[in-house]
Amino acid sequence: MVIKLTAEYTDLLNQAVAREIQVSIQYILQHAKMEKLKGREIPENILLDKTVYDVVGKVLQDLSIAEMKHAAKIMERIYYLGGEATTKSKQPVIGNSISEFAKLGVQAEEEALSLYRTIINKAAELGDWETRELFEKIYGDEEEHLFKFQEYAAFQDESEHPYKVPMPEWRKIFTDDYFALLNKAVAAEIAGIVQYTNQHEKAALLELRMRKTPLEAVQDTNTAQIVSKILKDIFMAEMKHLELISERIYLLEGEAVTNPEPLPVVGETLLDMLRLDHALESTAILLYREIIAEALKRGDTTTRLMFEEIVKQEEEHFWTFDDFVK
Ligand SMILES: [Fe+2]
Ligand SMILES: [Fe+2]
Ligand SMILES: [Fe+2]
Ligand SMILES: [Fe+2]
Repeated sequence: MVIKLTAEYTDLLNQAVAREIQVSIQYILQHAKMEKLKGREIPENILLDKTVYDVVGKVLQDLSIAEMKHAAKIMERIYYLGGEATTKSKQPVIGNSISEFAKLGVQAEEEALSLYRTIINKAAELGDWETRELFEKIYGDEEEHLFKFQEYAAFQDESEHPYKVPMPEWRKIFTDDYFALLNKAVAAEIAGIVQYTNQHEKAALLELRMRKTPLEAVQDTNTAQIVSKILKDIFMAEMKHLELISERIYLLEGEAVTNPEPLPVVGETLLDMLRLDHALESTAILLYREIIAEALKRGDTTTRLMFEEIVKQEEEHFWTFDDFVK
């Protein structure tokens, strides 16, 4: 190995991974909450049909994807150096208004800048130029994010509607135990997002190290490469699911959870990974069927239709993994 990866150095790089996962989940959930906050918009904005909530919401969505890409890049680097990339996230914090989102964003980005300065220095000290270059690039992105959040931090959006409406009859089906059930889906999606992102990078490394057959060598491809590509696509689908499900929860005035359940597991070999993913999709399908049944029972058609659509995609994911594990 070119660079000697000490436990301390791996830990430092994994701290970066943990906070990238954190902010990715944080920003996408805040993005999802934006639909709900829109209810506080002032009448002028209704006439414009575009509000600051739409604008900041889009920014948060873009940032979330950028942060998960950072996480993936750092994971990739850890695997190349012979280490194991973590699936553990730092705790995301969501907040209740644009200014709160922005303040939490400022805090998170400042943490990033200070951690990444440490990493850049450490990498330079070790002569690990690739890592240094990677973090210099990411550092620039985080600085932009920081400036973006600073712009919004002073935004006044604390005022609620001037009148309070008593809870209408149709909303009484949305009880705490129902939100708890929907939140199991949020947790499952977060698990998928982290697991697939990590595995995508690990598989990409296996791809380089394994050219088993002459055919693979000649064609310059192998199963790991195909799997790595599939994992990326499926990861993007899960990201969309997380967004839809949490948006629904926020709209109904619930709170979305921020932690994965089950905990993401990466696996050692390609077959391990695929078996774990197969099992994860299986769990999701069973859970979503339960949610569909419960939504039907409660008469919550919107949630039911949404999960019917999502479960179709989870079945597709299941069959994709099924092709490999048989
Ligand atoms: Fe980042
Ligand atoms: Fe950032
Ligand atoms: Fe999903
Ligand atoms: Fe899935």
